[in-house]
Amino acid sequence: MQILVTGKQMKQLDQSTIKQMGIPSLVLMERAAMAVFDCLKQHFPLKKTLVVCGSGNNGADGVAVARLLHLAGYPVDLYLAGNHTSFTEEMHIQWQAAKNYQVSIVNNCRFSEYTTIVDALFGVGLSRELSGKYQALAEKINASGIPVLAVDIPSGIHAGTGQVMGTAIRATETVTFAYRKLGISLYPGSVYAGHIQVKDVGIYGASEGVFSLDNKDVSWLPARDPAGNKGTFGKILLIAGSRNMSGAAYFSSKAALLSGAGMVRILTDESNRIILQQQFPEAMLSVYEPSMTPDELSEIVRKAMDWADVVAVGPGLSTSKTAENLLQTVLTFRQSKPIVIDADALNLLAKRKDLQAQCDAACILTPHLGEMSRLAECTISDLKVHPQKFMDVFYNNCSCTLIMKDARTWIRTADGSFFLNLTGNDGMATAGSGDVLCGVVAGLLGQGMNPSKAAPFAVWLHGLAGDQAASAKGARSMKATDILSGLEAQLQKM
Ligand code: ACO
Repeated sequence: MQILVTGKQMKQLDQSTIKQMGIPSLVLMERAAMAVFDCLKQHFPLKKTLVVCGSGNNGADGVAVARLLHLAGYPVDLYLAGNHTSFTEEMHIQWQAAKNYQVSIVNNCRFSEYTTIVDALFGVGLSRELSGKYQALAEKINASGIPVLAVDIPSGIHAGTGQVMGTAIRATETVTFAYRKLGISLYPGSVYAGHIQVKDVGIYGASEGVFSLDNKDVSWLPARDPAGNKGTFGKILLIAGSRNMSGAAYFSSKAALLSGAGMVRILTDESNRIILQQQFPEAMLSVYEPSMTPDELSEIVRKAMDWADVVAVGPGLSTSKTAENLLQTVLTFRQSKPIVIDADALNLLAKRKDLQAQCDAACILTPHLGEMSRLAECTISDLKVHPQKFMDVFYNNCSCTLIMKDARTWIRTADGSFFLNLTGNDGMATAGSGDVLCGVVAGLLGQGMNPSKAAPFAVWLHGLAGDQAASAKGARSMKATDILSGLEAQLQKM
């Protein structure tokens, strides 16, 4: 698991390393510059490099990079876009050292001369929009088509939100120090950052921030009991699929089984019976008819719930009165069973504060931004700008585990921890993709994972499955079926 930090958090860590741990800022800077230098040598054409610097310490990192290139014999020009009058103490020292070693300093950049540009204008200290000469320089760099290495974060990207502050430099690669910044993990910052490398420069100690799973977290997957039987690995009830919506029931239940659940039962509209039996013979079926009375419906749901260890409700369910009765029965009779609430069940839940009050940490809600805006009674842009704030506010009404799906999915666990998922791709914006995620969450819960692990792990795994599918056939024509195949392939490797 890695920690993603904001610019403010990074500055505090920087300062505590310098002041409390006693590591001089110039030592950190030299390590940062060496990490950039290594990356330049490995990945960039170094026929002639231009290093553009601001007056702050990001600029000072850049000046140190120029010195290292120069001393190693690589042609390099240094261009100061900032002002001498606002140099930091470290920048004064780096600038003087560059002059002492006779690094070439230019007052104009003729871009056609360069094969690589190093962007060291602004790092985590960016505090306002790029304007004037900085904006013009960023636009010229972007128009030049020359590969750009960004130092710590592309200039113009907000380190906490990933927003473009007026204009931003588009990097081919970003070498970021100590911890990955939240701003280059979120969109659009992550696109501007290009390929990201996180390099150790001797700054440690982040305990707060947003968590993000990585390959080491495969160990979260519950071990299989070699002596287990199908009951050991979880009995999952999927309440899914209204009339003409058998696909949602299929994708969610298939994903639950592929994720390792022992048994799956689908409770669905009678009209889906034949197609689901033909498509997915491994699943058991219970059916209801829309003409049933609420009591008859409730009886069927309660019987199926008695059998299940985990219940997932919502994929393709519609927002009919029948669907509302199904959801109400689930929440009323769930006892302490883990429940996944997805899709239309979320739209129903948005209208029923009484049902929201019945949710607890073992209820995992999986809204996309539209559904979340209805649940939290805010706008989609509120959620994009302040995701954590609005997830916190919603938790006060509905104390569930929350998966807020977007190109970068946020997860808030019931203890108030936040995760941001970094796997997945735009090919996953396809019908049925959310149904697959719902099934993965349920399947993992069925194998005994607790909700605060199952939620981030399922999102991470679902993204990996999508990445596998994209590499097999390309993102553009990816279908939910391909994500299921990707899921199988990923789990085979784990
Ligand atoms: N337009 C013009 N000027 C701007 C704008 C803007 N849009 N936004 C910010 N600035 C100016 C501000 O005046 C700001 O200075 P201020 O803090 O005095 O207000 C300055 O640019 C910020 O410049 P940065 O270089 O981004 O910020 P900082 O000096 O904090 O350095 C850092 C960032 C620590 C170098 C980080 O990005 C990094 O690369 N860390 C790697 C490790 C490292 O080198 N550590 C050395 C630490 S030395 C130390 O912290 C004292």
